[in-house]
Amino acid sequence: MKLAVVILAAGRGERMNSTLPKVLHRIFDRTMLQCVIDSSEKLMPLRIIAVVGKHFKEIRKSIKPENILFAVQKKPNGTGDALLKTKTLLKDFRGTILVLNGDVPLITSETLKKLLGLHQRAKNDISLISFVAASPASYGRILRDRKGRINSIIEDKDATEAQKKINEVNSGVYAIESSVLPMLKDIPLNTAKGEYYLTDIIGIARNTGHKINAYCIGSEDELMGVNTISELLKARRLFRERLADAWIKKGVTFLDHDSIFISGNVVIGKNTIVYPDVCLEGRTEIGRGCTIYPNVRIIDSIIKDGAVVKDSTVIEGSVVRAKAVVGPFAHIRPGCDIGSEAKIGNFVEIKKSVIGGRTKASHLSYLGDASIGKGVNIGAGTITCNYDGKKKSRTTIEDGAFIGSDTQLIAPVKVGKGAYIGAGSTITKCVPPMSLSVSRADQKNIEGWAAKKLKVSKGQRVKGSKL
Ligand code: UD1
Ligand code: CA
Repeated sequence: MKLAVVILAAGRGERMNSTLPKVLHRIFDRTMLQCVIDSSEKLMPLRIIAVVGKHFKEIRKSIKPENILFAVQKKPNGTGDALLKTKTLLKDFRGTILVLNGDVPLITSETLKKLLGLHQRAKNDISLISFVAASPASYGRILRDRKGRINSIIEDKDATEAQKKINEVNSGVYAIESSVLPMLKDIPLNTAKGEYYLTDIIGIARNTGHKINAYCIGSEDELMGVNTISELLKARRLFRERLADAWIKKGVTFLDHDSIFISGNVVIGKNTIVYPDVCLEGRTEIGRGCTIYPNVRIIDSIIKDGAVVKDSTVIEGSVVRAKAVVGPFAHIRPGCDIGSEAKIGNFVEIKKSVIGGRTKASHLSYLGDASIGKGVNIGAGTITCNYDGKKKSRTTIEDGAFIGSDTQLIAPVKVGKGAYIGAGSTITKCVPPMSLSVSRADQKNIEGWAAKKLKVSKGQRVKGSKL
């Protein structure tokens, strides 16, 4: 089947009562439009076209991948007019066009595949997904004839009291043969709303002998349209429940699955325990048997088997290898590789650095642009001074080195294998392997100094003293 996807996303979104374009409101870390794009991509269509309005630039900036095509509908003259705006981009396309609403974010690729399968087998000209809604008021109703065949769709505004009682509604998901597209221009203006309704194509196609079917195959939880902020909150809750349930079935434990924030692109291994208030975002992979403690945020990162991420830690764009322990209160910034069984402790910030296996940086450090070997001990308060105000330089610390507390390593600098740095040193030159480097001033004790100071402060003169 030759497939193109069109996502309608140019509506005004007035019911959101927000200055942000409706389709850019988020279901956790993805915009509604991105959710629909991600589900569409799994069908491997030949092209994906988003119909966008005056917020074109903002929308284009927000979405991935970059090969999405755009059709612009300057004025939101209705869903029928929106689809018509793809005419140029679909001029040479012969096949099936899957039309989706950008405000139906929870749609899954499984349901879309099901629709396309039914559409193809029945050789329909138009197929659509309907569902039974508990409160159908914000949807178009499906009107069927006595034999149960779909006749047309009537929008709530135009429906009679009897029609309003119908609870089978239109999801806004259609498979349309490209040969049917010329009929779009026959859609009349709906005078009640001043818009061209895509839904009217059903009645038109039916009256001209085309084959149409409405398949009641999805649930309201998946097909709900988001028109208001309260519907957005509901969609977020449903999405979280769906994902949490799926991972629970695969052996993940959430101590409080109502409080997690999880992206659709996250993978979590069996026997992993996730505490409350955890955010797992972007393309994050958590291995098996990991423990993720409360208030942790992990973005676009890989956490390998058995790793532990302790409370209030942020990990971005990095790899944490097996059995490493990170946190509490650690910040792993993009480009880090934390070795297996390494220990990164309280208030440690690491950026663009490789930390070898079993290396420890347990307290209060900044390690930036560093290559640190295996079994290294980084003392409390160690800082790699990687920035001279103009450029960044690297610090290299070889296997087994011991960096005393409160050391500053002025990059570029290298500490050789097994070398020791005395606490409080400022290291500006390379340290040879197996040596000791100390660069602090010698200690001087002035005996009796404090006692003399005390007497002066009490107004007593000290004989022979300047104090
Ligand atoms: C639409 C359907 C309704 C269906 C419901 C499912 C029509 C006329 N009605 O109603 O039958 O039950 O979706 O959720 O189609 N859009 C544009 N340009 C426009 C207007 C809208 O691109 O000029 C886009 C919107 O951004 C949105 C989608 O089309 O993503 C649907 O528009 P919306 O106004 O939300 O339609 P509904 O009233 O929800
Ligand atoms: Ca809608």
